[in-house]
Amino acid sequence: MLAGADTVGAVLDRAAQRLAGAGIERARHEARLLLTHAAGLSLARIIADADAPLAPSAVACFEALVARRANHGPVSRVTGEREFWSLGFTINSAVLDPRPDTETLVETVLSAFPDPEAPLAVLDLGTGSGCLLLAVLHERPRATGTGVDISPGALAVAEENAARLRLASRARFVCAHWGRALSGRFDLVLCNPPYVASADIAALAPEVAGFDPRVALDGGPDGLAAYREILPDLPRLLAPGGVALIELGAGQAAQVAQISADSGLNLVGIRRDLASIERCAVIALDGVNGNLKKRLET
Ligand SMILES: C[S@@+](CC[C@H](N)C(=O)[O-])C[C@H]1O[C@@H](n2cnc3c(N)ncnc32)[C@H](O)[C@@H]1O
Repeated sequence: MLAGADTVGAVLDRAAQRLAGAGIERARHEARLLLTHAAGLSLARIIADADAPLAPSAVACFEALVARRANHGPVSRVTGEREFWSLGFTINSAVLDPRPDTETLVETVLSAFPDPEAPLAVLDLGTGSGCLLLAVLHERPRATGTGVDISPGALAVAEENAARLRLASRARFVCAHWGRALSGRFDLVLCNPPYVASADIAALAPEVAGFDPRVALDGGPDGLAAYREILPDLPRLLAPGGVALIELGAGQAAQVAQISADSGLNLVGIRRDLASIERCAVIALDGVNGNLKKRLET
């Protein structure tokens, strides 16, 4: 398959052909990405030096990655790597593949807590790969954080990512049902809950339904089950002046606003993502927080 002259150019030609034959768009580009991973070479080197020889072990590793991609495994799942907030994260089958939409929550943290030296106590409910918590700890060097997940496999990945990003000394991870096991209060609560209605999961793109863990997607009969569990617990978890940033599924803003009001909370605002979809509910304890509202407008 990829036999013959084992140079960068030769293996790329064969891989691009195989991926295109499997219906993968941008087959050559994806083949290059997979080769950077398999051979430890930069994209620039791969493009500039087609005649560079490749070690048989790199070729074998590359062939295995190409075969998985030809089988329609997403590139991030095939390589086990995902960039989020310009940081490198390890992912595996126990965690949701972090989405760019979720970066809206990190952007909102920067507006809500503009002081980079703020010693924030951060809680991330349903931490998965740890992407949200660790991106915030990266941006706020005096913050400390707790990541909670019900999945031990996800927590192992989050711990690995904390070590990889040299943030482990400021992060701890707890296996629990949302915030139930926690007794402290937090300045910032982050949460990207499972919010797909159970019956809609099968109809998601194969790259999602076939690879993201069901526990990371399934929001119950109407997609809102996790919000109904998490929001009523926020008055207990938020410190005075604290803020919760909760990710929303497309079209869920009005229902989550109602759950927030029913929980005695103050929905301060809703941030849109780059596609202009209402993506992040900004929630505080009861009482208008005019300063926070102003900061969110800038
Ligand atoms: C949509 S994923 C978000 C993962 C990560 N925060 C991100 O944004 O990529 C939801 C996460 O919630 C976790 N989860 C689901 N039910 C939970 C529960 N009852 N208690 C704690 N975590 C839960 C899942 O294991 C999954 O990691």
